[in-house]
Amino acid sequence: MALPEYIRGCQNRVDEQLKRHLPDTSQVSERLVTAMSYSVFNGGKRIRPVLVYAASEAVGGKQAPADPAACAVELIHAYSLVHDDLPAMDDDDLRRGKPTCHKAFDEATAILAGDALQTLAFEVLTSKHHELPDPIRLQLVRELACASGHSGMCGGQSMDLNSVGSPLSQEQLQLMHSHKTGALIRASVVMGALASGKVEKEPLTHLIQYANAIGLAFQVQDDILDVTADTELLGKQQGADLALHKPTYVSLMGLKDARAFASSLCQQAIRSLESFGDQAIILRQMAEYVIQRSH
Ligand code: IPE
Ligand code: IPE
Ligand code: MG
Ligand code: MG
Ligand code: MG
Repeated sequence: MALPEYIRGCQNRVDEQLKRHLPDTSQVSERLVTAMSYSVFNGGKRIRPVLVYAASEAVGGKQAPADPAACAVELIHAYSLVHDDLPAMDDDDLRRGKPTCHKAFDEATAILAGDALQTLAFEVLTSKHHELPDPIRLQLVRELACASGHSGMCGGQSMDLNSVGSPLSQEQLQLMHSHKTGALIRASVVMGALASGKVEKEPLTHLIQYANAIGLAFQVQDDILDVTADTELLGKQQGADLALHKPTYVSLMGLKDARAFASSLCQQAIRSLESFGDQAIILRQMAEYVIQRSH
C-alpha cells in the first residue's frame, strides 16, 4: 500500500475512535468539552497514531489492539500543543490553521482542556471497552506516563523554555529535542509494538533505535520548516522560533547542515530496521516522510 493511502486510513481510523472517546456534551462544563474537541479535531497530521499502527504491524500485529494506544498518544500530543501555545510558553495564536485554543476560548479553559485531554489518554488506555490483557495495559500506561512527564515531553519543554536566548551545544539541543518531541514519538512506536502482544526483546531494541532517530529527525524538520515554510501551509506562524530566540538546529548549524543532519538520521532509522522484512515497509517510508514533509 502507498504511504499516503496508509496515512489516510490511519487518520480515519483514529478519528473515528477519538470521536467515541471525546464527550460531545457535558452536564458539568459544555465549554470545557467543546475546547477539548476543538483541540483534537482541527486537522492534525496524526503522525503518532500512524507510527503506533505501523509499529504494531511491523511485528506481525493487527490494527485493532493498537487503537487505544493510537488514541492515547494523540490525546497527549493534542494536550501538549494546547499548553505549548499558551502565552506563558510559546504564545502562539495559530495552530493547524485556526486560532489556538486559548485564543478561541480563554487561557483558563485552554489549561483545563490540556489537563483533561491528558487524563483522557489514560482513561482510554484503561477502558474495559478494549480487550487488551491487563499486563499489556499496564505497560502501555507506564510507557506513556514516562514519555509525557518530567523524564519525557515536559522535561524537554522545560529545557526549551529555560534555554531561550542562551545558545546550547549540539549535545544539549539533542537532549532537549529527544525529550520534548522524541519521547512521544518513541512511545508511539514502542506502544504499537507492545499492543500487538507479539514483540520480542531484540526487535523491540531495533524499533527503539529507529524511533530515537526519527523522533529527533522530526523535530529537526520542525525547526527547518519554521524557517522555510509559509504560514498558511504550515498552519502555524512561520518564524516563531526566530522571533522568540529559540535554540533550534537551524540556529545552531544553519539550514544546510540541519538538512544534512535530518537526512543522516533518516538513513540511520532505516538501517535500524534491517532485520525486519516487508512488514516494516511503512515504518521505512515514514522515516523518509518525516524529513520530506512540507508541514
Ligand atoms: C508539532 O507536531 C509539534 C512538534 C512536536 C514538533 P506535529 O507536526 O505532529 O503537529 P500536528 O499534530 O500535525 O498538528
Ligand atoms: C513543541 O515544540 C513540542 C511539544 C511538546 C508540543 P514546538 O514549540 O517547536 O512545536 P510547534 O512548532 O509550536 O508546533
Ligand atoms: Mg514550544
Ligand atoms: Mg511551539
Ligand atoms: Mg516548532
